[in-house]
Amino acid sequence: MILDFRKPLPASADRRWKIVQAEMRRHGYAPTGLIEVLHVVQDTFGYLDRDSLQSIAHSLRLPLSKVYGVATFYHDFKINPPGQHQCSVCTGSACYIQGVPELLERIEQELGVRPEETTADGKLHLSAVRCFGACGLALVAMFDDKIVGKLTQDELVARLKEMVHHDS
Ligand code: FES
Repeated sequence: MILDFRKPLPASADRRWKIVQAEMRRHGYAPTGLIEVLHVVQDTFGYLDRDSLQSIAHSLRLPLSKVYGVATFYHDFKINPPGQHQCSVCTGSACYIQGVPELLERIEQELGVRPEETTADGKLHLSAVRCFGACGLALVAMFDDKIVGKLTQDELVARLKEMVHHDS
């Protein structure tokens, strides 16, 4: 039996893995793309769990120990769950021109969190992602596992506040 090591192996059926797979494809599934791929996984999911590291190792044909070593060596990578709720804001071109820089400033002022950070109470982790592939729906964000498009800045901030205060 011939194994196709280039075939990507998603860590789950989560649709966000399409973003990761696109990044791996962009690097031709080469091991040299490891750091970029780790960044995309973290940006997309908020952290690097064991299943993700295994999937990356398989898809890039690297030993898991090497992938784990890189993920734990760099301070920027997190291997623990980052927060009770997660929001990923798209910063791709179509969304960016909807005022994403001002939006991120507003989120920082009103909720005290910047991209790749978790609120002090651990309730919300905010990520900035490159593109959800739904550019026609800009402004796009993902709230936990739900992608929402055609958002206004007010709607996005209101949803974040609801996430943070709902469980209080
Ligand atoms: S730029 Fe935001 S979904 Fe593509």
